[in-house]
Amino acid sequence: MILSIESSCDDSAIAITEIATKKLLFHKKISQELEHSVYGGVVPELAARLHAEALPRILEECAPYFQDLKAVAVTSSPGLAVTLIEGVTMAKAIAVALKIPLIGVNHLIGHIYSLFIEKEVAFPLTVLLVSGGHTQVMEVKNLHDIKTVAKSMDDSFGESFDKVAKMMDLGYPGGPLIQELAKGAQRKRYNFTIPLLHSSKFAFSYSGLKNAVRLAVAESDTEDYKDIAASFEHIATTHLTQKLKKYFKEVPPQTFAIVGGASANLYLREQIEELLKPYKAKLLLSELHYCSDNAAMIGRVAVAMYEERMFSTLESLKITPRSNI
Ligand code: KG4
Ligand code: ZN
Repeated sequence: MILSIESSCDDSAIAITEIATKKLLFHKKISQELEHSVYGGVVPELAARLHAEALPRILEECAPYFQDLKAVAVTSSPGLAVTLIEGVTMAKAIAVALKIPLIGVNHLIGHIYSLFIEKEVAFPLTVLLVSGGHTQVMEVKNLHDIKTVAKSMDDSFGESFDKVAKMMDLGYPGGPLIQELAKGAQRKRYNFTIPLLHSSKFAFSYSGLKNAVRLAVAESDTEDYKDIAASFEHIATTHLTQKLKKYFKEVPPQTFAIVGGASANLYLREQIEELLKPYKAKLLLSELHYCSDNAAMIGRVAVAMYEERMFSTLESLKITPRSNI
């Protein structure tokens, strides 16, 4: 079995995965959403303190599995430096105490493998990762061959939902709150400009849209917020589908996946389904509870890395807050 730890942002999670069967034997996550909600976003120092309380409590529940552990895995990149270090320090302590190998996992690869929890992997894939920290399209051939073909030049898709929710004083995380507010509201009432519409660049940008929404919020009454939310969600999503549509003309999709916390967005799922229809491409999605950050996805990557003996040492396992993918 492999014990895996996730602490890259505001979720403390630990999983136990059986290597031979890929079965998830244990998974527990303690989210900090309530604690950060009053600030309208994640406060790194507070997140680190909460991980220091939550992770040992979850680890205690894993004690019955300790004697069967063959490796310990941990998210080491990308993420908040002060929270990554919490998980990495715990993983190193476990590796020393139980004399087992360490595996450093990239969180973005974790999101890709959230598609294959308790399953065999199926590549190649074109993947859209939409989370709080990232918005990127990747061509994934296998664990070692992941090519990013487009990414955001500024804010991420999920982050823009968080910021719009903050402008409206809705709380954090903003994605589910905006989605709920936008239900049944007018998507075409506010004519926000689609980002990078006339640019040939395959890239994303959300800062301009965020500022346009800020102006609309400042000039409106609270009863208009639902239409602002719906119009924002429509344009934020259209930006993704418009760029993907152009890309698909050059590189027709065969199997397409949406992963990351914001892949839970229903309007996005609908629009991508529509976009894939002419190509008869298959759409893969993670189970809803594995879209947002979790340790089960880190455990699933770790099994693949274990099979290839991709181990780190105490010295070589370092945190890297920025992604190299
Ligand atoms: O993957 P994740 O849990 O954390 C990161 O790796 O960043 O993603 C969290 C992000 C947050 O920005 C949250 O607002 C967004 O995913 N999110 C959504 C929805 N559910 C979560 N965004 C849009 N619509 C949703 N339904
Ligand atoms: Zn994530």
